[in-house]
Amino acid sequence: MTDPKAWYVRSLFSRVPKEYDALLGLLTFGQDHYWRSFVAAKSDLPTNGLVLDVATGPGTLATELSQRLGERGLVVGIDLTRAMLQTAKTNLRGRDLGNRADWVLARAENLPFKDECFNASTISLALRNVSDAKKTLGEMARTTIPGGTVISLDFTRPTNKLFRVVYYDYLLGLFPVIGRIVSEAWGQTLSYLGRSILRARTGQQVENLMTVEGLVNTRSVPLTMGVVCAVYGKKR
Ligand SMILES: C[S@@+](CC[C@H](N)C(=O)[O-])C[C@H]1O[C@@H](n2cnc3c(N)ncnc32)[C@H](O)[C@@H]1O
Repeated sequence: MTDPKAWYVRSLFSRVPKEYDALLGLLTFGQDHYWRSFVAAKSDLPTNGLVLDVATGPGTLATELSQRLGERGLVVGIDLTRAMLQTAKTNLRGRDLGNRADWVLARAENLPFKDECFNASTISLALRNVSDAKKTLGEMARTTIPGGTVISLDFTRPTNKLFRVVYYDYLLGLFPVIGRIVSEAWGQTLSYLGRSILRARTGQQVENLMTVEGLVNTRSVPLTMGVVCAVYGKKR
């Protein structure tokens, strides 16, 4: 892999999968569960559907999606970090959902799947991390069936000025400190998270990328005072 951002992101996320879910839950005061339920609900999954979860990490959204599927439904989680996929596999097996998920080591920008094979495609808290967001959304659109939903949930910058002051203090001041208490790897990951959120795209910018990639009826919905935004559209 020659892409420096992908190298960097993989080296960060290789060292944190075990504590990822617990720490994210703590840092977001449990809001991350609500965000993922929102994404799963908007994915419009048929009972025995096939859904792609891009940059699945430790499989937290994949768990939520697989719980909504029937016995013959399947979630395919892809990620470029092997350690994340191993944790995802263990997590879903531990919840007796192992037979409703499959894991593939792959890059979001170059999905190893044929055209129009998934009922829906999701990416959560990760569009900031991929090297090419437009290509990623293009690949998600390509592999989704006509009428299927493509949805991205990601951190963004809240618009309320007062809330932003408090939030940025928390994000840039406290996050790295909490991270360093847990481990050096978490210290680095949480400083990266803060910096990446300051550069995050707005919901409208993600909607524009989706439109360029041929998705229609796009919408963006800010959640938790605009800390994150869910953006979704339909494959024509
Ligand atoms: C912050 S985690 C998000 C995990 C999970 N989706 C969630 O909702 O918590 C970001 C994940 O994106 C993965 N990732 C980053 N860039 C990627 C790329 N270009 N292709 C595939 N996975 C990527 C990382 O390996 C990491 O597991």
